[in-house]
Amino acid sequence: MFKPRIGIVIGSTRPARFADKPAQWIFDLAAQRGDFEVEMVDLRDYPLPFFEEGAPLGYAPAKNEIALKWQAKVDSLDGFVFTVAEYNHAPTAVLKNAIDYAFREWSKKPAAFVGYGGAGAARAVVQLRNQLSVLQMVPVSAAVQILMPDFMALMQGQAKLGEIAHLEDGAKAMLDQFAWWAHALTAARAADAAQAKAA
Ligand SMILES: Cc1cc2nc3c(=O)[nH]c(=O)nc-3n(C[C@H](O)[C@H](O)[C@H](O)COP(=O)(O)O)c2cc1C
Repeated sequence: MFKPRIGIVIGSTRPARFADKPAQWIFDLAAQRGDFEVEMVDLRDYPLPFFEEGAPLGYAPAKNEIALKWQAKVDSLDGFVFTVAEYNHAPTAVLKNAIDYAFREWSKKPAAFVGYGGAGAARAVVQLRNQLSVLQMVPVSAAVQILMPDFMALMQGQAKLGEIAHLEDGAKAMLDQFAWWAHALTAARAADAAQAKAA
């Protein structure tokens, strides 16, 4: 069976980030399914400058070496699960910037979200849905929202993600939706590529 290659994008880079916990949790749940090749994608490995290219990337290719490496990574993957922190009711600047630093590489691929914070990063996720739709991505409807009580318990080490049943159930439901789109869109992109080659 063909397995789409999916990336778990860790959307925060600050030294004491919480993001590693949801990233590892959703990585393990996605890998356990057996229908994906799963890879961790850490924005710390792509220290991009704030966007400084001469034109939007739809008009001219990037020149920055790290941007080219980042674009190659995005291109190599068939779908993305983002861990989403909320900074002042918006996505982290580092994630917004990383999204801006690729263009066609995101196109026609699914996106899913694991948000955490007071309101489960719901406001940041809404903004990401808009941004990613502009890039022709498909944000799946279901999302995981780790709300304040669970978030605090996890931060203080009083709970572990795998032990919170409603989050585990929510994550599995989200991955089911994500899997459908990942398979459908990967097949559709392959058909497009075959048609272009034959033309
Ligand atoms: C600049 C900044 C702004 C924040 N704003 C929000 C916010 O709007 N809503 C929220 O739920 N948490 C907010 N927080 C708290 C974060 O949810 C918390 O720090 C979380 O651990 C951030 O994710 P990270 O540790 O993976 O970077 C903010 C944190 C920072 C550093």
